[in-house]
Amino acid sequence: MADYLITGCNGQLGTELCHLLDEQGIAYTAFDSQGMDITDRDQVMKVITQEKPQVIFHCAAFTAVDAAEDEKRDLNWQVNVDGTQNVADAAKKVGAKLVYISTDYVFDGTNQGEYQVDAPTNPKNEYGKAKLAGEQAVENTLTDYYIIRTSWVFGQYGHNFVFTMLKLAETYDKLTVVDDQVGRPTWTRTLAEFMLHLVQTNAPFGMYQLSNDGDCSWFKFASEILKDHDVDVQPVTSEQYPQKAYRPRHSVMSLEKAKATGFTIPTWQEALQQFLADVTE
Ligand SMILES: NC(=O)c1ccc[n+]([C@@H]2O[C@H](COP(=O)([O-])OP(=O)(O)OC[C@H]3O[C@@H](n4cnc5c(N)ncnc54)[C@H](OP(=O)(O)O)[C@@H]3O)[C@@H](O)[C@H]2O)c1
Repeated sequence: MADYLITGCNGQLGTELCHLLDEQGIAYTAFDSQGMDITDRDQVMKVITQEKPQVIFHCAAFTAVDAAEDEKRDLNWQVNVDGTQNVADAAKKVGAKLVYISTDYVFDGTNQGEYQVDAPTNPKNEYGKAKLAGEQAVENTLTDYYIIRTSWVFGQYGHNFVFTMLKLAETYDKLTVVDDQVGRPTWTRTLAEFMLHLVQTNAPFGMYQLSNDGDCSWFKFASEILKDHDVDVQPVTSEQYPQKAYRPRHSVMSLEKAKATGFTIPTWQEALQQFLADVTE
């Protein structure tokens, strides 16, 4: 039995967290969707009561934002809401602290400033609605929890915008990228370190927001990713690049509460540089 348990350990964040704990010599048990399908309440209860972790890092989620609008609408809800409720109930049963990851999509993106942790939510797409309901499941079930909202996640172990841009640049010499959606990219490494930091420092329970520091549009992010590539990156509007699910225009979340815990947050440019060095070495 280990103190830490990870759900969704094959995802971008779950895999990063496993590597971080391995590096630090910290014991944990990790479950993918085969080992513990979070929508299977009996399985969740059985596994978590057997393992009796002190902390559950809940990284499992349904993350296909556009599919959540129609053909995967039910699955989005089953995983992100019912699944999270199952994990929260099991955490309560064994007295474990729960770390739940949420999203900037709980906001509508109409605020031109930074969203504070207690800003009113107003999700506009199905994924954001389900992740918010997941937050509420955690808040209504437990007292010992950390909810961490994050955004624009990229890491070594999955599909993400950085890999998509690098791949497209192999084939095309000109790319168009949306320039009127502004947010904060997040390297899985920074997020995994913050998750561990919260529990290791016994930070106050509650809601946090964590991304890399600074902000940018997708166009600016793409330009930085491809600055050493021979490709012409051009800005376009959201209207010129329609997507099924609504995307917030300005979802920059305040990092002040995270910084107040003593955690140092690299800028997104620093994080990207380190990530690119890691994947190209
Ligand atoms: N990616 C982003 O840009 C982004 C932005 C904001 C917030 N977030 C949040 O950050 C967290 C981590 O996201 P991520 O990027 O690491 O996502 P990811 O790469 O899509 O990983 C999610 C993992 O959840 C697992 N999963 C799905 N359904 C499951 C089920 N029923 N039971 C158990 N596991 C299940 C998946 O396993 P299978 O592959 O086996 O299905 C997958 O390994 C999530 O809470 C997400 O909502 C992500």
